[in-house]
Amino acid sequence: SIEFVGAREILDSRGNPTVEVEVILDDGSEGRAAVPSGASTGAFEAVELRDGDPSRYLGKGVTRAVLNVVEQLGPELEGLEASEQRLVDQTMIDIDATPNKSKLGANAILGVSLAVAHAAAQSAELPLYRYVGGANAHLLPVPMMNIVNGGAHADSDVDVQEFMIAPIGAPTFADALRMGAEVYHALKSVLKKQGLSTGLGDEGGFAPNLPANRAALELISTAIEQAGFTVGTDIALALDVASTEFFENGSYTFEGAAKSADEMTAIYEQWIADFPIVSIEDPLAEDDWAGWSALMGKIGDRVQVVGDDLFVTNVERLQRGITDRAASALLVKVNQIGSLTETLDAVALAQRSSFACMMSHRSGETEDTTIAHLAVATNCGQIKSGAPARTDRVAKYNELLRIEEDLDEAARYAGASAFPRFRR
Ligand code: PGA
Ligand code: ZN
Repeated sequence: SIEFVGAREILDSRGNPTVEVEVILDDGSEGRAAVPSGASTGAFEAVELRDGDPSRYLGKGVTRAVLNVVEQLGPELEGLEASEQRLVDQTMIDIDATPNKSKLGANAILGVSLAVAHAAAQSAELPLYRYVGGANAHLLPVPMMNIVNGGAHADSDVDVQEFMIAPIGAPTFADALRMGAEVYHALKSVLKKQGLSTGLGDEGGFAPNLPANRAALELISTAIEQAGFTVGTDIALALDVASTEFFENGSYTFEGAAKSADEMTAIYEQWIADFPIVSIEDPLAEDDWAGWSALMGKIGDRVQVVGDDLFVTNVERLQRGITDRAASALLVKVNQIGSLTETLDAVALAQRSSFACMMSHRSGETEDTTIAHLAVATNCGQIKSGAPARTDRVAKYNELLRIEEDLDEAARYAGASAFPRFRR
């Protein structure tokens, strides 16, 4: 049973404070987890509690969330079985008693939730992916590697937040990662040759200024070829437009002009026709439900449409999206909803509704690798953890290399089967 719950304030990859939790069980097992943090956060996400004290970390300290773990959550959880994950999470949800975890903070609750799972896994002498996923956890996800960063993650003039490569033709996860890294290096030399900046954005991708968003697709296609791969069959493309960031008063400000949802959809249609794009995330804004359904009617048969800010890993919003046919995939971010139980509930609802799932990091990350395990635990087949560079990003990919090795003969790389309907 849970004997000790402690927490501390640590730094994330952007130099902002975040919560780290440690849990110790009476059998000596220990679990530790650090909480990530977004920049282009959805309005419907669970609340990240910050101190607001301007004398520390520009108001971004998390000492209140740390104290909530130590003083409010810990004493109530001590004595519970760590393996009773749903009971542990429900206990915290009940103590908080707000719909969006605003009292104690989703950062406090999630830190405990994940640390408890890690401790329970150690107590069971299982790796986390097997403890959470059981005997059938075996599928290594396609790494959706974000190699050009724009939007809120870069200082550039590029509107689209993430241009990703998906090595669907690789035989193993290790090969997929190698292919991604090779393209990353090829892209660097392509940018250099054209006199473009090779400075990086928050997720480790390059962040050059470009004449148009489409130029990023062209540069990446060139880099894929220069690295010796075939665009489309070896490596497909994917986007996170994060369009809520440039949606205001009913229209999208894209490449300097006001566009409607229909006009944005037409732009995506053209890109899909010209490039082998298998997935588009947040093509429209978080409240533009009608626009999403219309977009699905137009391009849903050709590309995976992923809801991030639209669903915020929340089963109620996801259920609406399923009913309305507003998307075809769920982006899964543990801190959007704030507990392991609710995260797994969202994945389960998606999977039984024939929605795909993409496990996801946040733009603010730590060395924590929990999401690598959750991707395999849920056999979800897709993960995004940024570029194949910078330790905060590759920590997850490196952990997947270890998991693939650990699974040995049982490991299967999802590859193109992660996008069965959208491969062209
Ligand atoms: P965020 O971005 O972590 O800054 O919210 C990631 C995403 O939009 O997928
Ligand atoms: Zn997103």
